[in-house]
Amino acid sequence: MEPGGEEKQLGGRKLGRVVFTVEQVRARVRELGAEISDAYRTEDRLLVVGLLKGSFIFLADLVREIALPLHVDFLVAASYGASTVSSGDVRLLYDPASSLEGRAVLVVEDIVDSGTTLKRLLPRLQARGPTSLEVCTLLHKRVDGGEPAPRWVGFDAPNEFLVGYGLDHAEDFRHLPYIASL
Ligand code: IMP
Ligand code: MG
Repeated sequence: MEPGGEEKQLGGRKLGRVVFTVEQVRARVRELGAEISDAYRTEDRLLVVGLLKGSFIFLADLVREIALPLHVDFLVAASYGASTVSSGDVRLLYDPASSLEGRAVLVVEDIVDSGTTLKRLLPRLQARGPTSLEVCTLLHKRVDGGEPAPRWVGFDAPNEFLVGYGLDHAEDFRHLPYIASL
């Protein structure tokens, strides 16, 4: 980036420390892709469902590391608004249009905090008859009650509010290529 480019990218706002660098994220996404490719190696109908908006960058990088035929769909859920604390009220704004019936479904999430989002969404997806339903989250805060545990976790996250690589605060900072604390 150009000198001063990062300051420009942040729109003059200040962030805390960088928690996971571009290189750390890239290496871990590659590992996750390899593990997922191995786990689903006999599967030819994998459906990867990204939870928008937070997972959009992670999902885009992850699917390019999965060496299997797959389809991609999205789900839009919202719980935080402009707050940094989960409201506990998860609204589903868009349901995947794809049929989940008889398919191996892998839900891709940016970060699990209280686990409320997944707790609300997974039963609704399960009811649509997938042969398997698993979760891959890039980050996990390991907060008590954050059940059920996702099958794949990129990194254990500190209990701080994180932004970048898809994660936002009031829609800011999603485009940063690394993950930082606010
Ligand atoms: P949960 O329902 O409490 O597990 O929260 C999950 C959702 O809240 C994630 O999909 C994120 O969109 C958002 N979230 C939780 N923690 C953070 C954070 O540290 N930064 C940005 N978004 C977060
Ligand atoms: Mg969010």
